[in-house]
Amino acid sequence: MVSPETLIELKRNGQKISMITCYDYPTAKTLSDSDIDVVLVGDSLGMVVYGYSSTVNVNMDQMFYHTEAVARGLGGSKLLVSDMPFLSYQASTQDAVLNAGRLVRAGANMVKIEGGRRVIDKIKAIVDADIPVMGHLGLTPQSINITGGYKLQAKTQEKIEKLFEDCFLLEREGCFAIVLELVPEEVAKVITENLKIPTIGIGAGRFCDGQVLVINDLLGYYQDFKPKHVKNYLNLSEQVLLAVNEFVRDVKSLNFPSEDNLFKLKEQVDLENIVKSIRNKL
Ligand code: KIV
Repeated sequence: MVSPETLIELKRNGQKISMITCYDYPTAKTLSDSDIDVVLVGDSLGMVVYGYSSTVNVNMDQMFYHTEAVARGLGGSKLLVSDMPFLSYQASTQDAVLNAGRLVRAGANMVKIEGGRRVIDKIKAIVDADIPVMGHLGLTPQSINITGGYKLQAKTQEKIEKLFEDCFLLEREGCFAIVLELVPEEVAKVITENLKIPTIGIGAGRFCDGQVLVINDLLGYYQDFKPKHVKNYLNLSEQVLLAVNEFVRDVKSLNFPSEDNLFKLKEQVDLENIVKSIRNKL
């Protein structure tokens, strides 16, 4: 299993890091046999699993139960990162440490937090509690009510300076990696070259130390929208529709269940007689 320290080693050795989201036990079981380096229980589950319009509705209980399910499926085979949801760390450092600890108890090896300077005291407190932290900068979806949409970030000199400062602060306070979401490729490249810890990009171009995708996007199993930075490796929605409609046809045409899908009595029983005798008793 890749450890938080090996993320930094992978960067040092010029090896790219792959990360994918996961929210449930069967998918985690499948991923445990894959070559993926890191599995993230992202708060994107609010949108792709629960159908919320943003991640701000996701709470600690949801993150706890999904982290537990994924941890059971992975069985310790992958580095498991879990997102700290909206309001689980913003209010106080005590909340931050206790909620990060809950996710570790659910099976996470590391927690991910959105934000830079404004949450640096929370990150420091979690690191001091010996819980590895992954940062998340650029577009931070929990700030949707400030940013007003899922738009490209760090487009001006001022915003780029802020991003770079936040990245260096996260590195200084002990983060093991930083997710960079929706930033111009040139910006991601320069900061990646100037950090010792790896950057893991999503919509941040080709030069990050790693890449992350939401599994539903990768599998083509999310139809609400398809952002430019996403690549579908499968069209799972289409496959699911084909399979379900075939099942419906089989049921209606008596092709399912077949002899292979049913159970028979092993001994001779007069079933009609049982029906008659029960009827007479009632
Ligand atoms: O919640 C999530 O899935 C994420 C990834 C997009 C990095 O934070």
